[in-house]
Amino acid sequence: MAASWQSLAGAAQIESLLRVKELEEQQRVLLKSAICAFNQLLDLRDLNTGIHSTRLAEWAVRVARKLHIDERDLYQIEVAALLHDIGKIGVPDAILKKDGKLTEEERALMNKHPEYSWSILRLFPGLENASLYALHHHESFDGGGYPAGLKGEEIPMGSRIVTVIDAYDAMTSNRCYRRGMTHEQAIEILMQGSGKQFDPLVVGAFAEIALQEKQGVFAATGSSPAAVI
Ligand SMILES: [Fe+2]
Repeated sequence: MAASWQSLAGAAQIESLLRVKELEEQQRVLLKSAICAFNQLLDLRDLNTGIHSTRLAEWAVRVARKLHIDERDLYQIEVAALLHDIGKIGVPDAILKKDGKLTEEERALMNKHPEYSWSILRLFPGLENASLYALHHHESFDGGGYPAGLKGEEIPMGSRIVTVIDAYDAMTSNRCYRRGMTHEQAIEILMQGSGKQFDPLVVGAFAEIALQEKQGVFAATGSSPAAVI
């Protein structure tokens, strides 16, 4: 009789463990769908931003691995790279899509987008670090960035990675008013900005892998280096 109670208790314990696993899996799938939906939203609002962010997520994983960042944080960095500019949804089209130079007032509004990104991402349970990385993706290694003017290692590593790959992808992308730079020109500018705008450690890691990983990044995002937007 005692043995039978024991086996019943054991079965109930296994069932409850399986239920917890099932709920965790459901939560994981739901979070992944929400992240994809927000990326799609960015695509709909501004195609350049959406595709650029998808490439950034691919770069982020590769650079973070090169820097031996652990898998949990790597996921947060990947999400931050994908949705770092989600806050641009809060910037009016007249500013976001303006061809000419922004006025001081317009620039101030545009510079609010990292805070908007943070205010959106922090609402996702489990994306607390990703929201912080998005908040600080326009900080500068020498302290001259925004929104907080953080300096060096005060800036989270996830943000420092996004800053470097964001600059590289923007420099090598074509725009209707200019052609993108070559890989070599963009790497040269990253090197010049190393220790100023960019973390030297991240620039070094990126420069080491960029050329060999470039085809893979473009293949994964369905875009081509020759017709990059
Ligand atoms: Fe940004």
